[in-house]
This record gives sequence, structure tokens and C-alpha cells, in this order.
Amino acid sequence: MVKVYIGMSADLLHPGHLNIINEARKIINEMGGGNLIVGLLTDKAIASYKRLPYMSWEQRKTVVENIKGVTEVIPQETLDYVPNLLKIKPDYVLHGDDWKTGIQAATRQKIVDVMSEWGGKVIDIPYTKGISSTQLNKILKEVGTTPEIRSYRLKRLINSKDIVTICEAHNGLSGLIVENTFIEENNKKIEFDGIWISSLTQSAAQAKPDIGYLDTTSRMSTLNDILEVTTKPIIYDGDNGGPTEHFIFTVKTLERLGVSAIIIEDKIGLKKNSLFGTEVEQKQDTPEDFALKIHAGKQAQVTENFMIIARIESLILEKGMEDAISRAKTYLNAGADGIMIHSRKNTFDEIKEFASIYNKLPNRKPLIVVPSSYSTVTEDELIKNGINIVIYANHLLRAAYPAMVNTAKSILGNHRCKEASDDYCMKIKDIITLIPGAQ
Ligand code: SPV
Ligand code: MG
Repeated sequence: MVKVYIGMSADLLHPGHLNIINEARKIINEMGGGNLIVGLLTDKAIASYKRLPYMSWEQRKTVVENIKGVTEVIPQETLDYVPNLLKIKPDYVLHGDDWKTGIQAATRQKIVDVMSEWGGKVIDIPYTKGISSTQLNKILKEVGTTPEIRSYRLKRLINSKDIVTICEAHNGLSGLIVENTFIEENNKKIEFDGIWISSLTQSAAQAKPDIGYLDTTSRMSTLNDILEVTTKPIIYDGDNGGPTEHFIFTVKTLERLGVSAIIIEDKIGLKKNSLFGTEVEQKQDTPEDFALKIHAGKQAQVTENFMIIARIESLILEKGMEDAISRAKTYLNAGADGIMIHSRKNTFDEIKEFASIYNKLPNRKPLIVVPSSYSTVTEDELIKNGINIVIYANHLLRAAYPAMVNTAKSILGNHRCKEASDDYCMKIKDIITLIPGAQ
């Protein structure tokens, strides 16, 4: 019985994939029978080099195991085929011949070498032209997403990535930037995993102070602009959640929209931005009352995947590490799905200390940080300290403001706009075509 192995993600399945499976069936028929084993890349394996697939592993498995000719679907836990090949020792590995060149060539060679140990062969199937996952992916992004798919994505990301990276957006345009910006680094596509709806930048973008003045209706309007043009998961800054009676409405509204999580902070009274610390009057809620609010929110939510994350302000308000840890325990017991620990120190030290104690709690949930003041900390360092989500909470707006002021000054100083246009602005052609559908 011949054994044929195909590794695939099978998220956006197209005729190219079916062609390879068909070729495998032909080989099996010619050899008088055998098994076609598909090594289906896990979310983790895929997230190690590109965006998370649209469908979960189980959904993709259901699709693939129902394709004619597939005998078995097993997880391929790494991008590297070798661990599975050593277990299965297939006679053939099939892949599209596009991997003979470019970044995949080294992967291919490694497989050829390993397979030769037991006389196995790699067969390169001519690449199916005219269709590609990249193209389909682009079209899918234009189509958008559904609230359910978007909402569940945050939990999938937490389970698949060493660290989930979230960037602030404060309107539709900055939402598009977080959605679409990427870089290539060591053959990996690097992009933000999700979007932070910050009270600070949303207020500032509307020229309002960050004191909870924008009401939920106004916040939802901006949120809606962002939802309309993005597919990535969203974490909403809920300030202190408001009175519990209001909070349960907010939870339901956010769930309906497909937001993945709300973060609420354990403060009461007039809201002030945490980064003022003790310079302004800010009062922390009692742990017991805040726990009741978390509990009420959890009771109110309708979907399984929505997350209520408790934000601890003890370090901001200089109440000490013990208080912060004790609150973390209380909030987790009340049902919080994660803890955000905030600091306004310019080093990572106190967060690191918190994390080292927090990570040992038996009912530990994801840990979230916002390194606005301790900005030198790297993602590697955060990963080493068990942080699950990093939020870059205000950078797009902070970058836009000085750029606009400089442009205004240039026009004023030159008494014309040529210098501003040349030095600070994108081309007119680029702005009129920036948003699809303008022509
Ligand atoms: C926000 O972005 O609005 C936050 C984070 O809540 S901070 O500004 O640091 O309080
Ligand atoms: Mg805020």
C-alpha cells in the first residue's frame, strides 16, 4: 500500500489544491491502492509565518476529509514537514511546483533529503495558473467578515501566537492602516493582529478630553466606521464600564457588533487618563464592587467567546504590588477572561514583577499590557515574561498630529502649499485612489 503525503493549510481551497489531490489519487490508483494523508497545518503553524486562517482547524479538517480520495487528515504542527514525515515515512510527497524557487526552495530540499532516507520521492505538480490564495484573500477582505467570525478570532489568536499585537485606531482611515499594513521580515509576513478602540485617541480625535465625555452612542459610531472597513478582531476600551446597569447593555451591544473583548478599569468617579497617575485625583473601586461588575457583565453576555478583561490600576495609583495581585485573584474568581496590568513607569520592571507572580496563579487567564510609558520593552521580552497581548494604544494618532501641525506651519511660513505638498503630503493621485470605489 503506497502512502502519499500532502501538507496544506486548506483555508481558501481552490482548484489548485484539488488538482494536487487528484494527482495523488492517480498515483495511488496506478500503484494498486494506498493512503492519501493530508497534513493539515494547525493555526499555530500557519500563524508562525502569516495571518491566521479564516477557518478554524476543525472546520478546515471537515472540508478536507470530505474531498474524494483523502484517506486521513492529521495535524501538521509546524511549518516544517519533517516531524510528520519521520512518523509516517510516506512514499511520495506532492506539492505545487511553485516551491522550487524562492523562499520555499529550502523547505523543499530538506524534504527531498529526509525522504531519500527511506527511498521516498517528492513530486512537484505544475502550478495551477490564474488562481491563488493571495488573490482570494484580497477579495475576501473586500467582502468583509461576520460578527461571529471576527469575534472568535481573538481567542484563536491567543491560542496560536506567542504574543498577539494590537494597534490603536480612532477612525475608519486609521482602522484601514491597522488592517492592511504589513512588513516582510525573515520570510514572514508581519502585521498587527487586531485593533484597540482607545478612549484616549478616540476622544482626542474628536478634540475632547479623555474623561468619559464621549457617550457610548458616539463611541459606537466611530467603532462602526472601523468595523465597516476591517476584518481583524477588536478590543474595546470601556473605561470603567460605567454603572453596572449600563455596562450590561454595552456588553450586549459590543457582542452584537462582533467586538472580541472589552477592557474595564477598576476606578470610580470622574474618569481621568491613567497616565496622569497620582498627579490628578483618581479613585480605585473596591475589589468587591468591581468584581460584582465583572460578574454582572459575564452573566449578561450572550455569546461564548466574548471576553471581559479586568484592568488593574493599583500600580498606576501607587497602591503596591500586593494590592495588584490580590485584585487579580479577585477579578479572576469573578469570571474575568483576562487581566490588563497597567503601569506608567518608564521601565518594564514592575510589570515584570507582576507577571512573574501572576503567571503562577492556578486560574491564570491571558495577561495584557500597554507599554506606552515603558516603550523600550520588546515583544521578545514580553513573550519571555508570559505576556499574551500587547496593545500599542495611541501611536497612530500621536504620529498624525505632529505631521499635520508641521504641514500647517509649512503652508503658513511659505504662503503657498508647494513645500507642504512636496515635503509632507502624499500625492493627490494617491489620496483620490486610496479608498477603493472612488473612480
Ligand atoms: C487608552 O488608550 O485610552 C487607554 C490606555 O486606556 S491609557 O491611555 O494608557 O490609559
Ligand atoms: Mg482609555
